[in-house]
Amino acid sequence: MESLIKKIKNAATKDDANHLIKSFLKSWVEDVVENNVPIPDYEEDECLLFEDESVSIWHCRYRPGFTVPAHDHQIVATIAVYQGIESNTLWVKTNDGGLKKKSVIEIKRGEVLQFGPTAIHSVSCANDKDSLAVHVYQGNLSTIDRSLFDTQTGQTMPFSDENYELLANKA
Ligand SMILES: [Fe+2]
Repeated sequence: MESLIKKIKNAATKDDANHLIKSFLKSWVEDVVENNVPIPDYEEDECLLFEDESVSIWHCRYRPGFTVPAHDHQIVATIAVYQGIESNTLWVKTNDGGLKKKSVIEIKRGEVLQFGPTAIHSVSCANDKDSLAVHVYQGNLSTIDRSLFDTQTGQTMPFSDENYELLANKA
């Protein structure tokens, strides 16, 4: 994990960061899956591995039945799944201020998916086994004013712990 973090950290400041980060994650996740590379057993479901001005790296565990409420990132996000399936539902804003489901993409073990900065997604674990993944965001995610979305009403809300809990319980 340390060498992946180092590579991503260096790649994040390059002009072709999107491509480099995606390809590093792809090689890493293929190696983990094919060779059963051991990954630390992180205590928290969402564990921050590294963050600076150019990149934030998280290890994310989603448990069966749990859904992360719809949200944006405002920066490029790349997800590499090494256990289970992360189901990503993509949403788009409608002209009348609502929200419409665009597509559902399942990221399976050994797969990588990259989202653009305007993407809105909700995430859930798609089977009966925890999904485990590395999420990379090309910026300092914790300092960005992000939004959460109520997919039933289309309402946009500030990304806060309170709103997160509210929507997570509703999902
Ligand atoms: Fe996300």
